[in-house]
Amino acid sequence: METALRRESHFKTVRVSEQKVTTPGEKTRTRGFDQLFSGDAGEGFRVKTGIVELDEMLRGGFMPGDAVMLSGSAGTGKTTLALQYLVNGVKLGEPGIYVTFEELPDQIYRDAKNFGWDLQRMEEEDKFRLVCTSPNLMLESGDDSLLDDVIREVQSRRLVIDSLSHLEMFVTKDAMRTEAYRLVRHLKTRGVSSMLLWESPQISGAAFNVADAGLSFLVDCIVALKPVEIESSLRRALVILKMRGSDHDKRLREYEITSHGVLVSTPFSQYEGLMSGSPTRSMTDEAANSWAFAFAKNKQKHS
Ligand SMILES: Nc1ncnc2c1ncn2[C@@H]1O[C@H](COP(=O)(O)OP(=O)(O)O)[C@@H](O)[C@H]1O
Ligand SMILES: [Mg+2]
Repeated sequence: METALRRESHFKTVRVSEQKVTTPGEKTRTRGFDQLFSGDAGEGFRVKTGIVELDEMLRGGFMPGDAVMLSGSAGTGKTTLALQYLVNGVKLGEPGIYVTFEELPDQIYRDAKNFGWDLQRMEEEDKFRLVCTSPNLMLESGDDSLLDDVIREVQSRRLVIDSLSHLEMFVTKDAMRTEAYRLVRHLKTRGVSSMLLWESPQISGAAFNVADAGLSFLVDCIVALKPVEIESSLRRALVILKMRGSDHDKRLREYEITSHGVLVSTPFSQYEGLMSGSPTRSMTDEAANSWAFAFAKNKQKHS
């Protein structure tokens, strides 16, 4: 009884602040979490991002139930990639939830539409939920999670939090670790794969460092987005820094944000030092081959 009242008050508070939070519908609680859990297609199943090249880098996709951290400075495309991951999930029959502390629903619907993603239609079809809330409400809800009803309602398999760094502003560093750990563990017990966005500061060079936040230990996978300056132009690089229990591509790949979302392309094979922020052109295969050929010819001449 007390729990129900507490939850009710959370939703009321959200409504008063005129932010939309998805309210528990009448048709919920028809399936338990145990049933949600058994929906996987067995061993070897991967949670596909639907971005072919990224799935290739992940050797098929994320591991089911894993907590993934997507890090990058402002404007690197975290929100775009995260929404794309959810939209593609819906296409693959895996409903998703997008939790944001940053933006208002209308803005998100509009931005997503520009990429060709109709989030409102997905919500009407009960395949997607947008949850706009405040970090405070999220933290207060504790184990009696604010998200549980929504997870049940759409039988969600994927959940994005945009962003964990926003949550950090409301708590001390130590409390943040505890809260983030509790959240990740909670979602795991629900059989939900989570993607936690992390806005790293805009420092040139070693901006890949999510270890600063002291949170890298609690996630299973880290995908980092980083702007790199190459020959006076700004390019975008994506790299998988860690993936527990799986092989993955260790190379940096270039990506673009297009009108259809994030597009991952080829590795930056011609440059070295991108991680440190001072790239230098490395020898191309072609140049290396012709050099080897000339060297062999020269050697022959002198033998
Ligand atoms: N419809 C669009 N078409 C192409 N590029 C876009 C579009 N919308 C946004 N972008 C690009 O995406 C960038 C912002 O991406 P976003 O996902 O909001 O980044 P982040 O969440 O990391 O701050 C913009 O700076 C812009 O370059
Ligand atoms: Mg964003």
